[in-house]
Amino acid sequence: MYQSKVIGLGKYVPERVVTNDELTNYMETSDEWIRERTGIEERHWVEEGDGNTTAVMGAKAARQALERAGLQPSDIDFIVFATLSPDYYFPGSGVLLQDILDMPTIGALDVRNQCSGFVYATAVADQFIKTGMYKNVLVVGSEIQSTGLDLSTRGRGVSVIFGDGAGAMVLTRTEEKNKGFLAHSLHSQGKYADQLIVKYPSSAFPTQRYFEHLKENPDDTSHFPYMNGNFVFKHAVVRFMEAIMEVLQKAGVSKQEIDLLIPHQANLRISQFVQKQLGLKDEQIMNNIQKYGNTTAASIPIALTEAWEQGKIKEGDLILQAAFGSGFTWGANLLRW
Ligand code: UT7
Repeated sequence: MYQSKVIGLGKYVPERVVTNDELTNYMETSDEWIRERTGIEERHWVEEGDGNTTAVMGAKAARQALERAGLQPSDIDFIVFATLSPDYYFPGSGVLLQDILDMPTIGALDVRNQCSGFVYATAVADQFIKTGMYKNVLVVGSEIQSTGLDLSTRGRGVSVIFGDGAGAMVLTRTEEKNKGFLAHSLHSQGKYADQLIVKYPSSAFPTQRYFEHLKENPDDTSHFPYMNGNFVFKHAVVRFMEAIMEVLQKAGVSKQEIDLLIPHQANLRISQFVQKQLGLKDEQIMNNIQKYGNTTAASIPIALTEAWEQGKIKEGDLILQAAFGSGFTWGANLLRW
């Protein structure tokens, strides 16, 4: 069986920076509240006319990852695209990226697993490489949250945490042992689907009928993200740890051997809790939520790329990716660099 290793990483965030202070123009909040509860100082949001869509941003990150991998778009055999904010209901953003990058008619698969989307996407890509079906796979996480948020005070519990951005990873086949992805853990618990959700309009409540419903019920906010923040937080800290311990056990390594943890950037307090549980030093965990907010499926590839750019990753390092979010879905990937 083959192994799959990372040979290129890239990221892209829109130019527009939105500070916590700017948010106070739209809703009752404060820089102090946001920093204290989440660690976030600013985020990047797309702006009208900048040409960014979820697929376009994904393509920008992918170009950088391909360049760093020394590959052309035509060298890629398969695309896995993780997002909760696709350009359209259908088709998915993966096929749009295939077109933007002018790739051959290779397969493109969209993964709809929200905050853990990139963890699922890398696990999927790894399986295709391990079985020998594909040699080079492009994995992308890209999100535009800002266009779907309730920016009034009503939505402040959710809207202040989200940012836009994209990250990309190129995986290739290797026959080296103990290299690349060593183990994955993937889980879900749909009974909590409605604890973090954008509900309508949807096939269950079609657009036309929902618009009629809104005329009678103008206060319904089902078209905006809803999150039971405390409930999600409590589950996140438990599930992060479970998924991490599971991959370590599967690979037969101990938590003392971890060199770098790349947690999904959901809330700095969640990451700090996990860091403490694992006994990691500050340099063993990557946190950049301060600058980007929570970019859901894009947060891990953006953080991993930045860690690599900052020289925090060296040959042979044991790296963990872990995430928890809407679904609930959660999981982890263990990777030998
Ligand atoms: O990425 C996917 C997974 N997501 C997560 O893991 C997120 C998990 N949850 C969280 O990160 C936190 O629950 C939040 C950051 C979303 C919220 O923090 P919290 O400490 O759980 O606050 P809370 O929702 O319990 O609200 C506390 C108070 C409330 O006021 P009262 O009722 O105590 O008077 C809120 O109305 O803070 C108020 N509040 C705000 N105040 C200023 C809520 N949002 C804001 C805001 N600015 N943006």
